[in-house]
Amino acid sequence: MSSGAGGAPLLEVRDVAVRFDGIVALDGVSFKIVKGQVLGLIGPNGAGKTTMFNCLSRLYTPTEGDVLFEGQSILPRPAHEMAAIGIGRTFQNVALFSRLTVRENVLIGGHSHTTSNFFNDSLRLPGSRSVERGLEKTAQELIDYLHLGDVADRPVAGLPFGTQKRVELARALAASPKLLLLDEPAGGLNHDEVHELGRLVKQIRDDRNVTVLLVEHHMGLVMSISDNVVALNFGKKIAEGAPDVVRKDPELIRAYLGGEAA
Ligand SMILES: Nc1ncnc2c1ncn2[C@@H]1O[C@H](COP(=O)(O)OP(=O)(O)OP(=O)(O)O)[C@@H](O)[C@H]1O
Ligand SMILES: [Mg+2]
Repeated sequence: MSSGAGGAPLLEVRDVAVRFDGIVALDGVSFKIVKGQVLGLIGPNGAGKTTMFNCLSRLYTPTEGDVLFEGQSILPRPAHEMAAIGIGRTFQNVALFSRLTVRENVLIGGHSHTTSNFFNDSLRLPGSRSVERGLEKTAQELIDYLHLGDVADRPVAGLPFGTQKRVELARALAASPKLLLLDEPAGGLNHDEVHELGRLVKQIRDDRNVTVLLVEHHMGLVMSISDNVVALNFGKKIAEGAPDVVRKDPELIRAYLGGEAA
């Protein structure tokens, strides 16, 4: 919490390698995400983006290297503790409870963060009622913030995909993440929705002081909203820097052209 403005890294990836049998999915990748930044992680198919994403959300354990969040390794912790320490994520294919309403899904997102848990909820210990009221208030705020008021009490199933993606964002934000990992948020969205998403991600960063890691194929979106971009190819970092610089990087251009030609 202390070092906000000084460019202290919120997340630091150190020499991360991941090997699956004979495949080297990541090969000694290092980068940092400064607090308050949007970092875009790009690269052609098979570059290792999703593998990195899965390391950061603790679904995978790196074969080598370390991942530090607020200066502490996340590797000793299991995936289900990530929300509580401040790392939130959305899923590429939307992972919501489709029979539950928008509001219920957002409430569930908040539960993963509170001290109130299944045990003291079911025992009705003092405090859980006020925690519940707090969660309901937060859920309503997020519903308003993400313009979900009209559909708040409708089941998620049947809502347009773009709307479901906003519900996922609301669910992830309900846990008050410090770092939000977005896995291809533009996938399946139309042109206008991608534009709106870009605006929303920047707004979330600014209004809610959330640092963002964006794994995305949509180059226009990445380049327009990222403060910094890290490019991977065949598991290695090949470029890093401001979007305008990375965009012109010869190795990155070769990687994309090579990928398409192959
Ligand atoms: N669970 C796994 N088991 C074996 N190999 C894997 C596994 N996950 C990923 N790989 C391999 O690791 C490499 C990196 O894959 P990854 O999914 O991270 O790439 P990506 O950059 O996300 O690609 P895409 O843009 O196509 O989603 C690829 O060669 C892939 O086949
Ligand atoms: Mg992927």
